Amino acid sequence: MYKFLTTARENGIERLTLNRPDVRNAFNEEVIAELTEWAAHTREAAERRELRAVVMAGAGKMFCAGADVAWMSKTVHYTEEENLRDAMAAARMFSAINELPLAVIGRVQGAALGGGAGLAAVCDIVVASDDAVFGFTEVKLGIIPAVISPFALAKIGRSAARELFLTGARFTASRAKEIGLVHAVVPAGELDAAVAGYVQEVFTAGPEAVAAAKALIQRVWDSAIDETATITARAIATRRVSAEGQEGLGAFLEKRKPSWHA
Ligand code: COA
Repeated sequence: MYKFLTTARENGIERLTLNRPDVRNAFNEEVIAELTEWAAHTREAAERRELRAVVMAGAGKMFCAGADVAWMSKTVHYTEEENLRDAMAAARMFSAINELPLAVIGRVQGAALGGGAGLAAVCDIVVASDDAVFGFTEVKLGIIPAVISPFALAKIGRSAARELFLTGARFTASRAKEIGLVHAVVPAGELDAAVAGYVQEVFTAGPEAVAAAKALIQRVWDSAIDETATITARAIATRRVSAEGQEGLGAFLEKRKPSWHA
């Protein structure tokens, strides 16, 4: 049981809701600890093939207003070591979500600011309502989007980051889609249907293939170009001979649905 998260697991889908609506789901050290613990449990369930998708949402008006400003302001009294430990915990939380071996779908309404935009960046697929606002707003507070930067940069690239990290300006959902932070923008009333559409799509894909495709993106991204031929050839060779690969290829040839098709 969590204090600031609600979770519901059904039919292979984990629904995670950030649940601190009174502060627009801002996260402090307790939320970070809970999210890290949740990610570890979710990884285990995904590895046991009990889960195939996560839907990450925020309770109330907004997805997430980022790091809790009240908590961050208190860290002035921390030693350098304590501050470092605190920031490392946040970095580990983002990594743990980023590396989950299943599809993580973000459902963004209202706003995703600062670390909230960072949470969107560690989702594989983000669906936003057309009135949602995004921003890497940290510089407005005299701080920087540090621990979220690897994940944000991987999504939006250096050019958009140079504009948006340096200005801290808020931007629309359609701009977020243009720069790759968001994948679909829909009217607020259609948010759940759009998320369900993505979940359905994921459920027609081989679960191991989804995890392998996700791992491959990271691996190729992190590799030198002359290493990628070996990495990618090994990855596809492994999939081809796997039971799941054989089932998927066979099902296509036999004009039937593969066993995982839900
Ligand atoms: N940390 C702590 N508390 C926050 C917060 C944050 N990041 N964002 C919002 N809150 C709190 C507000 O202080 C307010 O508390 P109060 O009711 O005790 O006054 C409450 O949440 C509601 O915020 P409010 O601004 O009144 O709501 P809103 O719906 O009009 O606007 C936001 C919501 C998120 C657009 C606005 O609060 C905002 O811009 N927050 C700052 C976001 C930010 O810069 N995040 C980056 C942090 S690095």
